[in-house]
Amino acid sequence: MASPLDPPRNCKLCPRLVDFRLDSRRDNPDWHNAPVPSFGPAHAKLLIVGLAPGLKGANRTGRPFTGDYAGDLLYQTLIKFGFAKGVYGARPDDGLTLLDVQITNAVRCVPPENKPTPAEIRTCRPYLEKTIDHLKGLRAIVALGRIAHDAVIKSFGKSLSAHLFAHGASHDLGGPTLFDSYHCSRYNTNTGVLTEAMFEAVFASVRKHIDR
Ligand code: URA
Repeated sequence: MASPLDPPRNCKLCPRLVDFRLDSRRDNPDWHNAPVPSFGPAHAKLLIVGLAPGLKGANRTGRPFTGDYAGDLLYQTLIKFGFAKGVYGARPDDGLTLLDVQITNAVRCVPPENKPTPAEIRTCRPYLEKTIDHLKGLRAIVALGRIAHDAVIKSFGKSLSAHLFAHGASHDLGGPTLFDSYHCSRYNTNTGVLTEAMFEAVFASVRKHIDR
């Protein structure tokens, strides 16, 4: 059954994204081609917020970061730090289990060229807010990139100027703590903006924060 925490399959809030979805449904009728729901248990202590589904990844498979280049480093790191168990097989039936983490996106529909507009990010934010509200045991949030960071800060009604995005920074949100990381995108990892060690350092801090 559809969850009220996720947009409906035929969400019509963002006309440009609806057009893109319909094109993709026509070109690839066996893909998911719909808003991608959050993945992970309701008792999660950690929420990871990405940008938006990739066309041939999460938009195809229907699971955040699954089949996307960025998912390789993300899921490998979650397993390494005990947030997930099993083997990540880049497909929704790989049996990978998220233990105490949920993964969502600031924008739930695939945007053209991976670039949502400011209006689309704003329009989708109520779903992020509902997702956060629903996680009663939430201790930490990891924002992957500045767009996710800004969406989280606004979801908590905080000021962006008082909470600037910086890789490795953390922000007290008066409940959970927000940890910032550069996005684990192909571009960032191939150019060395984000190394595996840098990404793991963020998750080591998160693990320590949750376990203390
Ligand atoms: N796939 C997602 O689901 N989110 C991202 O931010 C990138 C790829």
